[in-house]
Amino acid sequence: MSHGLFITFEGLDGSGKTTQIRHLAAALEAEGRRVVTLRQPGGTALGDRIRAVLLDSRSEAELGAIAPEAEMALMFADRAQSLREVILPALAEGAIVLCDRYTDSSEAYQGAGRGLGSERILAMHKAVCNDIQPGLTVLLLPRLQSSLYRARRRNERHAQKHGTDENRFEREGDDFYTRVHEQYREIARREEKRVVVIADEAPIEAIASRILEVVHARLEEMAASAERSAVQ
Ligand code: TMP
Repeated sequence: MSHGLFITFEGLDGSGKTTQIRHLAAALEAEGRRVVTLRQPGGTALGDRIRAVLLDSRSEAELGAIAPEAEMALMFADRAQSLREVILPALAEGAIVLCDRYTDSSEAYQGAGRGLGSERILAMHKAVCNDIQPGLTVLLLPRLQSSLYRARRRNERHAQKHGTDENRFEREGDDFYTRVHEQYREIARREEKRVVVIADEAPIEAIASRILEVVHARLEEMAASAERSAVQ
């Protein structure tokens, strides 16, 4: 069975993940590689429903305040579905999967932002996701204030265009986002082999070519280790 490469993108809202995923997907496809992109929450029919409940700030008017533990469990329900329905089948066929957010987001937002703690998130990850980790995580971590400014502006545009909002998280104050930001830095320190941090604010194209280099290096490592095990 051939194995693809699972790459996740992480960072605060407005850190530029979505743009970078688009650039990377286009570059890899131009090299003739099969690429599957998705986001969490979302990316499956069930996930899209969960996304609407979790992200629309009007959900709570209808459903009542969402408990932090319920929020965590819904994020993992979405993740379980996309692993089974999209990510694992694509990897089994040898594709490169680019996923906009994964469990590091739960650790940063629910673990630190909501205060549930990393241990609970990592235990949930083991139980629900079989502890499946990406082969590479690109963490975009520009300055906190510039991410927040971009995220709030984008959400205003989204609300004007679609008549719905995705503001439930963006309403959180700077303290919440400071905890999220700090937790991302902590994850990067702990997982230094898996997580590549891009913290500066270089132009989009310059960041895109750095990410492509990192991905090429990871693909070469995989090819070399596959060759070694074929020889043994
Ligand atoms: P985005 O798709 O625009 O990045 O927005 C997704 C939002 O959901 C973002 O505010 C972060 C939040 N989120 C969590 O709080 N926990 C999670 O596990 C995931 C995947 C997302």
